[in-house]
Amino acid sequence: MATASRPAVIAGNWKMHMTCAEARAFAQRFLPLINDLPGDRTIVLAPPFTALQTLSEALAGSPVALSSQNVHWEGHGAYTGEISPAMLLEHGVRYAIVGHSEPRKYFSESDEQINLRARAAQAAGLVPIVCVGESDEQREGGDTERVIRRQVEQGLQGLDPCQLVVAYEPIWAIGTGKTCAASEANRVCGLIRTWVGEPSLVVQYGGSVKPDNIDQIMAQSDIDGVLVGGASLDPEGFARIAGYQVAAPV
Ligand code: PGA
Repeated sequence: MATASRPAVIAGNWKMHMTCAEARAFAQRFLPLINDLPGDRTIVLAPPFTALQTLSEALAGSPVALSSQNVHWEGHGAYTGEISPAMLLEHGVRYAIVGHSEPRKYFSESDEQINLRARAAQAAGLVPIVCVGESDEQREGGDTERVIRRQVEQGLQGLDPCQLVVAYEPIWAIGTGKTCAASEANRVCGLIRTWVGEPSLVVQYGGSVKPDNIDQIMAQSDIDGVLVGGASLDPEGFARIAGYQVAAPV
């Protein structure tokens, strides 16, 4: 739940979707739908690298911030397929997702590499969105807390927690339609904040977030936002997520 010290961050991760033409069409439909959003939330879109410039132009003057889906720790060099913080800043990017479970799984990214990426992002003035989360097997084996604590300790080492977003994304809930129970997601997000030791750390939940479960997720006391995959590709659906409503506490 957004608080004065922890404004909500609602981020859409487009993964390997959207050409430049599709990104432009998305922005045209999406922006008019979020005209009247309350000021307690930041909306972020993370398109593929190729659509950053198009989206940067299409979002100019809007309250939507841009994120990359990754960032390298070196400023330049022989790193085929990678991108540096300065290259992202040139396109108006403000956030960088690192440590998502897909590069962890498909490209064997380690917590050490993720930490290097996040530190380089912060040093350049980008806000890293560092993803952590356990697999199905790890949860079944009672290992959830140990796994996430290790990811937090190694992945967040040396980072300024006030220029950081952590996304708790249980791997078994990503793209599966299986949402983690809101109370359990809340418990883990609270643990992450306690382990980091910074009360103003923004902690998101991610994994099958949809228009029909966003209000319940955002009503949780320790969840400050969401990282949305599939449902962020639909302008109407993502606008509903961005416009989440939480009953005021009595
Ligand atoms: P999903 O993806 O919303 O499609 O489950 C979330 C993510 O991978 O960040």
